[in-house]
Amino acid sequence: MQPTGDFQSQLSQCATGIATLLEELLSRKTLEGETTRPERLLAAMRHGVLNGGKRLRPFLLVETARMLGASGPGPMRAAAALECVHCYSLIHDDLPAMDDDDLRRGKPTVHKAFDEATAILAGDALQTLAFDILADEATHHDPAIRSALVLSLARSSGLGGMAGGQMLDIEGEATNRSVEEILLMQSMKTGALIRHACEAGAIISGADQPTRTRLVKFGETIGKAFQLADDILDETASTQAMGKQTAKDRDQGKATLVSLIGLDESRKKASALLQEATSLLEPFGARAALLVDAARFTVERSH
Ligand code: IPE
Ligand code: IPE
Ligand code: MG
Ligand code: MG
Ligand code: MG
Repeated sequence: MQPTGDFQSQLSQCATGIATLLEELLSRKTLEGETTRPERLLAAMRHGVLNGGKRLRPFLLVETARMLGASGPGPMRAAAALECVHCYSLIHDDLPAMDDDDLRRGKPTVHKAFDEATAILAGDALQTLAFDILADEATHHDPAIRSALVLSLARSSGLGGMAGGQMLDIEGEATNRSVEEILLMQSMKTGALIRHACEAGAIISGADQPTRTRLVKFGETIGKAFQLADDILDETASTQAMGKQTAKDRDQGKATLVSLIGLDESRKKASALLQEATSLLEPFGARAALLVDAARFTVERSH
């Protein structure tokens, strides 16, 4: 399967589209049922969302949907919903009670630019905005599809997904974890939202169950690779390149695969995951070229 070579331009086109949509969704205009949108909270939400970011999760969702023949504004809306949950997870992850970070996407974290209470509320309101977007008719005319999207995002974000994984991450600080325990934690804190990107792309396209299952597996596989790459970059990349403080996991006693098996073995594991992910896409042939590129980017990225 040959990469198309235009992955970077497609990713940046998707990033621009997502930013435009999020800009609209986070305008001052109230929606039916809302009372008012307090300016400070809105500003903090915008700070946490409209601040760059690779927008890889939105890309995976939109590209999966495109590959499976979906059209219209639905995939971009579902992608914006996912990005809202991702940004909320970053805002809370950076709080002093969690990773205590001052820099995110090259800018002060939300609690630094505003304050902790505002950052907590901005995360809360971004999470509910995500479900607001999915439940809206504009996302898909079929309520069964909308509710399947809501269910997938809820399961991926909550107790048995991202939030649960963040709990395991915090509990794992300064304790000895096995490789299996670390992989489980990573598959939840990071993998779950990436898996959702691929699953949501299949749901919104009305794909059959075997296709959906295959794409879920693809998402799970690159989800693992994504966090592994993040942990490798924490050790090897500069704060400037990453737009966030690096060389922190070791100091904070984070349980990472890098700390347990070292950089070389971690890199080998990441390329094995890339192989696995790529072979899952084989049945889609050339139509999956951009997803193959996205998988490679997940592992080989430098930021
Ligand atoms: C960072 O995610 C948090 C992790 C799950 C490792 P990204 O590396 O996708 O961050 P942005 O969205 O591009 O800033
Ligand atoms: C973050 O993992 C995972 C979530 C935000 C859910 P990290 O703590 O490693 O992410 P960074 O390195 O701060 O982006
Ligand atoms: Mg963290
Ligand atoms: Mg962190
Ligand atoms: Mg990290």
